[in-house]
Amino acid sequence: MEKLIDIISEAVMKAFMEQGYDGKYGKVTLSNRPDLCEFQCNGAMAAAKENKCAPFLIADKVALALQGNPMFSMAESVKPGFLNLKLDEGCVARYLEGMAGEEGRFGCEKAKEPKKIMIDYGGPNVAKPLHVGHLRSAIIGESVKRIGRFLGHEMIGDVHLGDWGLQMGLIITELKEREPELIYFDEGYEGEYPKEPPFTIAQLEEIYPTASGKSKEDAAFKEAAMEATFALQQGRRGYQALLSHILAVSVSDLKRNYENLDVSFDLWKGESDAQPFIPEMVERMKAEGHAYLSEGALVVDVKEETDTKEIPPCMILKSDGASLYNTTDLATIVWRMRDYDPDEIIYVVDKRQELYFTQVFRCARKTGLVKPETKLTFLGFGTMNGKDGKPFKTREGGVMRLQYLVESINEEMYRKIAENHTVEEEEGRKTARIVALSAIKYGDLSNQASKDYVFDVDRFTSFEGNTGPYILYTIVRMKSILHKYFEETRLPLGAAILPARSESEKALMLVIARFNGVIESAYEETSPHKICGYIYELANAFNHFYHETKILAEADERVKAGYIRLLTLAKGVLEVCIGLLGFSAPEKM
Ligand code: ARG
Repeated sequence: MEKLIDIISEAVMKAFMEQGYDGKYGKVTLSNRPDLCEFQCNGAMAAAKENKCAPFLIADKVALALQGNPMFSMAESVKPGFLNLKLDEGCVARYLEGMAGEEGRFGCEKAKEPKKIMIDYGGPNVAKPLHVGHLRSAIIGESVKRIGRFLGHEMIGDVHLGDWGLQMGLIITELKEREPELIYFDEGYEGEYPKEPPFTIAQLEEIYPTASGKSKEDAAFKEAAMEATFALQQGRRGYQALLSHILAVSVSDLKRNYENLDVSFDLWKGESDAQPFIPEMVERMKAEGHAYLSEGALVVDVKEETDTKEIPPCMILKSDGASLYNTTDLATIVWRMRDYDPDEIIYVVDKRQELYFTQVFRCARKTGLVKPETKLTFLGFGTMNGKDGKPFKTREGGVMRLQYLVESINEEMYRKIAENHTVEEEEGRKTARIVALSAIKYGDLSNQASKDYVFDVDRFTSFEGNTGPYILYTIVRMKSILHKYFEETRLPLGAAILPARSESEKALMLVIARFNGVIESAYEETSPHKICGYIYELANAFNHFYHETKILAEADERVKAGYIRLLTLAKGVLEVCIGLLGFSAPEKM
């Protein structure tokens, strides 16, 4: 459906033209004085400059013309030359009926030219437990993916595992010290390796930190780990087999963790998948004269004349010939272009990596790894801080593991739910998990991604204020009203959303009508926080209406049926929105 604001703008543009002015002056915006009007147009001010007359002369004429238009219940010219507008109640009701007729889409159209977009998010490091730093990437990326998909784009999510660094060598070295007799360490062995991994996830999670700790104190151990990493990267069979085991064990654990967050990926590729593409890529960069040796390292210049700060060259190979994080990201672009040829690649990564990605993107463009029209987008997010304003930590000051964080919020939510009602333990725990997820995700997504934010458990889990649980609470309230209504009655034939009968009802209707515009701009600006802002407004508008209106006690069946249709629409819109944010609502709470 066409956006309501565009329909209004067209009517006002037409009025400007009929009065002999350029139509462009008729652009309408939401009112910033909701006490005076619903929409406003300031075009007469600019039109007056062009026509060298007083703005109110123009505004007066246009207002008069609009007064004849049944779309408006008020069209007023206000000095010095503003147009204040209110929509006709019937017009709004008809627009909402149109939305309600499109179950599941509610007037939001799919893109006319769908794009293929790869989205690189999550970015967990294999064998290291997920920590809260990875939480933001997962939450934001998942939402951006869902928003794009809703608008009809082909969104391909890739987890981009960190599976190619020293951590692999560390694990291998530690394992070798503990169990040197394992077949993987026998260099002469040529047979097949066992299918069963020689460790469990619990052991792996203990092996890595132990090894990492040792490497900081024991230089020889670190040296051995570096050698093991190198041997692995050179393709040593036994180590490759161990890598496969580490990956398999780790990935199934990661999948479970992401599943608990309702986050899923289409591709489980990792840094290691890019390695085969490196040699040819490097050769081409050299042959085409982009890459050159600088102090032994192979680099590509990426600075541009318009730079206001220094952008250092992008390093492709270290002086010992080893590849780097850069090399891997560039080679990843190679296979992404070869296998998928996307219109855009979005990277959802900590904003501290911004300069790094500027280098990678420029290098990819300069060396022709991507087409000129391929868009490369860096969506950098800020740090999640504790109440002390410092990066979120455990009470003991250690790195907070994601699993513990989620469990503690689940616990807190359960406590609150059990405090309010008597619930069966199992039922209550299930609800608590759903509500807790909304607390975590909404708490994150309601902030602009690039900003740092404070993870405030008390605030995020509150049922009041700008929180996930408040939104869910509102949806549950709607569900319960609808449930009661349909228990006793059926919607009468021809039931429809009726013209608003009160201020609060109209306000609610006008918020609902903004749905398609909000989703579009959330997509265009890769800004899930716009959806949060919108549903908060919608929930507030509904609750205001609810407190002022006797819905189920309404005597006129037709009016009551109209309320029910309005409620159904509001609930549908809210549910689509929270789905795009990556969570859902329980039946009761
Ligand atoms: N594994 C990285 C980290 O933990 C994030 C990966 C981001 N994606 C990328 N293509 N570099 O910091």
